[in-house]
Amino acid sequence: MKKTFILATLLAFTGLTASAQTYLNPNAPIEERIKDALSRMTTHEKIKMLHAQSKFTSAGVPRLGIRQLNMDDGPHGVREELEWNTWNPARWTNDSIVAFPSLTCLASTWNRDLSDAYGNAVSEEFAFRGKDIMLGPGVNIQRTPLNGRAFEYMGEDPYLAGEMAVPYIKAAQANGVACCLKHFVLNDQEIDRFGVNVNVSERAMREIYLRPFQKAVDQAHVYTIMGSYNMWKNVHCCHNDELLNGILKKEWNWDGALISDWGGTTNTMEAALGGLDIEMGTYTDGKTKESNFGYDDYYLGNPFEKLIKEGKIPMSVLDEKVSRVLRVIFRTAMNPNKVIGNQCSETHYDVCRQIGEEGIVLLKNDKNILPLNPSKYKKYSQILVVGENATRSLTQGGGSSELKTLRDISPLEELQRQYEQMIMYAQGYYSGRAMYDHVDRLNPQKQDSLKAEALEMAKGADLIIFIGGLNKNTRQDCENGDREGYDLPYGQNELISELAKIQKNIVVVTFGGNPYNMPWLKEVAGVVHCWYLGSEAGKALVNVLNGTVSPSGKLPVTFAQKYEDYPYVQYGQEAYPGVNKQVYYKEDIFVGYRHFTTNNVKPLFPFGFGLSYTTFAYGKPTATMEGNNIVVKTTITNTGKVAGKEVAQVYSSAPQSDLPRPSKELKGFAKTKLLEPGESETLRITIPKNELNYYDETTHGWALTTGTYTFHVGANVDDIKGKVEVEVK
Ligand code: GLC
Repeated sequence: MKKTFILATLLAFTGLTASAQTYLNPNAPIEERIKDALSRMTTHEKIKMLHAQSKFTSAGVPRLGIRQLNMDDGPHGVREELEWNTWNPARWTNDSIVAFPSLTCLASTWNRDLSDAYGNAVSEEFAFRGKDIMLGPGVNIQRTPLNGRAFEYMGEDPYLAGEMAVPYIKAAQANGVACCLKHFVLNDQEIDRFGVNVNVSERAMREIYLRPFQKAVDQAHVYTIMGSYNMWKNVHCCHNDELLNGILKKEWNWDGALISDWGGTTNTMEAALGGLDIEMGTYTDGKTKESNFGYDDYYLGNPFEKLIKEGKIPMSVLDEKVSRVLRVIFRTAMNPNKVIGNQCSETHYDVCRQIGEEGIVLLKNDKNILPLNPSKYKKYSQILVVGENATRSLTQGGGSSELKTLRDISPLEELQRQYEQMIMYAQGYYSGRAMYDHVDRLNPQKQDSLKAEALEMAKGADLIIFIGGLNKNTRQDCENGDREGYDLPYGQNELISELAKIQKNIVVVTFGGNPYNMPWLKEVAGVVHCWYLGSEAGKALVNVLNGTVSPSGKLPVTFAQKYEDYPYVQYGQEAYPGVNKQVYYKEDIFVGYRHFTTNNVKPLFPFGFGLSYTTFAYGKPTATMEGNNIVVKTTITNTGKVAGKEVAQVYSSAPQSDLPRPSKELKGFAKTKLLEPGESETLRITIPKNELNYYDETTHGWALTTGTYTFHVGANVDDIKGKVEVEVK
């Protein structure tokens, strides 16, 4: 009896002590910790938690030992440390990191396992730098090939973007680092990004633009989301009641914290009632000007506190926001399982290189000019490399996603290392320094002399590797501005054509986040597109060029034959970039391949396209209903001479109905393991039935057309190897 009594007393006491500090008890349920913390905070402490206290942190509660939230860019790696309260580099000497490939490159791998590896590795770097929130990934949809930030996003298809974002987010958050999915929503251009109002049909909004975000909420439970600068229904997305309270928090039942883009908050009342939880970066014009407002002057600072104190806004509104922020804090900063992580480990460099190797897309390979494996290149006595991107660091520039790297292996460096004395180099053109928002005045005489030198050296080469493309300079894949045309800049098209006249053994290698025009395509033997490859760029590229790795990347965007073929162009300025800051998505749901396939517009290279050094045969596909899933199976056989990986894609065609629908929509994909010559693998691709839903604007809800669906299994949207019908009830 006595012993029981003592035990009971002890337990009660422990319980009492624990309850006395529940919010600090790492083993207590998070919702208990939130409730307890909230009950201890003053109103002013609650208010301070809802806005920045520096460029990249929001306040905790020092008095209670509640940690602040440390955030940082960006989707491809941890940004260099900036000064507490300015955009100036803090000039640390221990913040050089691994630059991972751009997210368009990750999408191009079509490899969910690599997305998981990416999220795990990059979040270890964020954790090691003491960050709690990483400001990425981005899943805005590439509706125009001119979008300055497309390189940070995951292509034109919402299914692919969602599927490739989920593993990255889950892996990062399993490490106790919150992702901040961005930019929610419709931030699909950089022109007028701070104020453009997007007019889009409800159906396109749901089926195309919101879809990847919804999948990340449903399947990855993303902890934070960044509101976008632009407007929807003429209300800023950073505090848009219908978007944030209506769709995100209520309909999708999301429990995370909505963070504004930096400077995306415009007024207190909307910020208070429109679903914003953490206001960041106010009073900056994005990146260059800093005012002397104190952080307490933020919209969610003193002005909001005044409205609360006057009872004009109920305390429940404040507590709801603070609960969401505390939930992020307890899931990250005060999460006992948050990893220590590491920085610049060889493991991280391996992940970086693998993603690059599998994201590179081989677009053309006439006469099998590639790979340049040792046996083959012996016949080339002189290889000439031409182009500024052979040496230029592409991890700088681009805007907020730019990175300071410890290792940044350039293509030329690696080519010279592997091909030794055989490599000559000519810059061919120049583009000025990687700047965020200035364009250096380029000197035509200098351009001409660089071109002349390259053409002269081409006469002595028996193979040319041109390495160019875009370069994250202003309006060349850079935040806060879009590209000004579909062509490659700096006279590259003319240079490539003239080089090809001198030496027809020419391979064009391009970097860039967007499709571009290739007037010289027929004149060259090979084309390889790399997106942006990060710290191991040279290694990843040369491992593909020399055949160590057979390319397996598949385009996450359509390369049109000409700019005018993109669906929105026919509708004029209103459809892009908008008139008087009103842009109308007149192509509706027919974005990218949905337009090209449905309206029989032949692309230069279709969505999902990518060559290999080997060939694959597809077995006859089968499909069965298994519960609420359609399971499509196909056997892939390597029928070539070298090992390689293949991505089988599954597109659905819905039964005829009077509802306009794309002729094909990506609904599943799977990538084989590395198949040796002659080896086969049966792929099992599971398609949840609700992926076939369409959005019904009359009922404002999702609906399913029952009937016979055709599932096309192919190597890209236009290269269908087999199809199978399924009765969907
Ligand atoms: C920028 C970008 C956003 C970035 C933020 C912080 O303006 O739009 O993606 O994370 O500000 O740098």
